[in-house]
Amino acid sequence: MTKLIDGKQVANDLKVQIASSVKKLIALGITPGIAVILVGEDPASQIYVRNKQRAAEQLGIDSELINLPTTTSEAKLLAKIDQLNANPAIDAILVQAPLPAHINEERVQSAIAPEKDVDGFHPQNVGALYNNAKSYYPQANTPRGIMTLLAEYMPDLVGKKALVIGRSILVGRPMMAMLNNADATVTLAHRHTQDLDQLIATADLIVVAVGEPHFLKMSAAKADAVVIDVGINRLEDGSLVGDVLDDMPDSAQLLTPVPGGVGPMTIAMLMQTTIELARQHST
Ligand code: GUN
Repeated sequence: MTKLIDGKQVANDLKVQIASSVKKLIALGITPGIAVILVGEDPASQIYVRNKQRAAEQLGIDSELINLPTTTSEAKLLAKIDQLNANPAIDAILVQAPLPAHINEERVQSAIAPEKDVDGFHPQNVGALYNNAKSYYPQANTPRGIMTLLAEYMPDLVGKKALVIGRSILVGRPMMAMLNNADATVTLAHRHTQDLDQLIATADLIVVAVGEPHFLKMSAAKADAVVIDVGINRLEDGSLVGDVLDDMPDSAQLLTPVPGGVGPMTIAMLMQTTIELARQHST
């Protein structure tokens, strides 16, 4: 087998640290609180939201789920966000994506107070990330979780060739910025990229987030490449697979499995960001 990056283990270690930080904060009279807004009944979103709530509960973080019907107007959602912005018990606000088509996602993300923006999607926080700002700001949790995995499995990123495939707001774009801030040499590839095979064959690190089963074969990457698979695809037989096919049984490559790679890190980082915001609000 290609060597696997144990995201579950790193996430569990991180959760132990977070639980201990929460205890210390509570002893100081600070209980971190997260509000999660889910609009509609998308089954995948319901599962993600439930997992986030369960993690918060386990760690002693207050969590509030606000489940609004699919027909909720944008005005009503914005009013709810305003209420949470003004509520001192809430440190972190997350509006689960995707939203119903009649709601403008950009307006919603911009309505969340930047200091409660636990996803790091507010333009002010995106700007801070791109500028590699020195003061604290929340950062997108999936790419941040990947950076935490890399700290363990690929600690020296300076000057390395990093290839990010997929340019979503959730993963690809913030991933590019974080790797750039870590002094890697980053290429952001997308559906119009030419000579992708050649980029894949020469990259030291590949982050794949395209949402297509078996989009990348490990045999196409360098013999010592580190590959991060962000995809979660459900096949017709019900099984879950990532965007990467491991066709290199005996290689020295490193790969994140699906499930058990990036997924658990996202949730752990979300909790980490929540307690960071709570700490910011207490000073
Ligand atoms: N939907 C899928 N992943 C995410 C995420 O990280 N944050 C939000 N808000 N919605 C999502």
